[in-house]
Amino acid sequence: MSMTVPAGIDVNVPNAARMYDYYLGGKDNFAADRAAAEAVLAVAPEMRAAAASGRALIERVVNHLVRERGIRQILDLGSGLPAAKNVHEFAQAAHPDARVVYVDYDDVVCTHGRFLLTDPGRARIVHRDFLEPETILQDPEVTGLLDFDQPVAVLMMFLLHLVPDSAHPHDAVAEYRKALAPGSYLAISHAANDARPDYMARISDIYERANTPFTPRDRPSIEAFFGDFVFEAPGLVNIWPHEALPAGVDPELARTGYGGVARKP
Ligand SMILES: C[S@@+](CC[C@H](N)C(=O)[O-])C[C@H]1O[C@@H](n2cnc3c(N)ncnc32)[C@H](O)[C@@H]1O
Repeated sequence: MSMTVPAGIDVNVPNAARMYDYYLGGKDNFAADRAAAEAVLAVAPEMRAAAASGRALIERVVNHLVRERGIRQILDLGSGLPAAKNVHEFAQAAHPDARVVYVDYDDVVCTHGRFLLTDPGRARIVHRDFLEPETILQDPEVTGLLDFDQPVAVLMMFLLHLVPDSAHPHDAVAEYRKALAPGSYLAISHAANDARPDYMARISDIYERANTPFTPRDRPSIEAFFGDFVFEAPGLVNIWPHEALPAGVDPELARTGYGGVARKP
């Protein structure tokens, strides 16, 4: 598929969604994205394996929620560019009634999403900023598919470390938690800096130079996103299992990302 360039896109400015697509071996990226991603890979060659681990985690999380917990509604915030398989495909393979709304603030992501999602009665993408929970939760495009009086699983996978503290992501996540019905779930994966602060700071520097904030957080700060929700087993854990680490990579790097799923009591 050739790369679509929506109006208003500056292909000379690297972009986190497209850098991530490049780590995953996708084709939806421009030269500036590839150059910035290669600069990260020079410091962190295991970033590709980390991104692949993140996608595998999404599949496990969606399967768990739909198959084991009966979830039929998913709000995927910061959904990213279409990958080999996506949340609605995992969800609807698990149960045909599952409905998914994707949200991303990136024009390229939304253009691709609209092209891909041909059955808007079951899955659609909405072009919005996650930092405006009230607007998203009341958007007719969203409420036309998701009923927030019933349990909904909200995914924030590899999203929150792209949101700096100055934008107050904890406050925004608290608003989502508050708006959800009991029995809803929150799933988060997040880059962490408590195991290797220097290493993660070098990666953040490269992103900052590319005008893309990257804010890995420590474990307590990531745990705080879940508020009083109750963790599903095994709790907040390394998203990068030791067995997935490429040969020769320091096992401590497994602690540079956490993921968890928790339920609203
Ligand atoms: C690293 S990608 C992760 C994609 C997918 N969730 C996954 O885990 O594979 C992060 C996505 O979040 C989006 N994003 C970042 N900040 C956002 C915001 N404030 N509102 C909506 N989307 C945002 C980016 O455009 C990008 O597509």
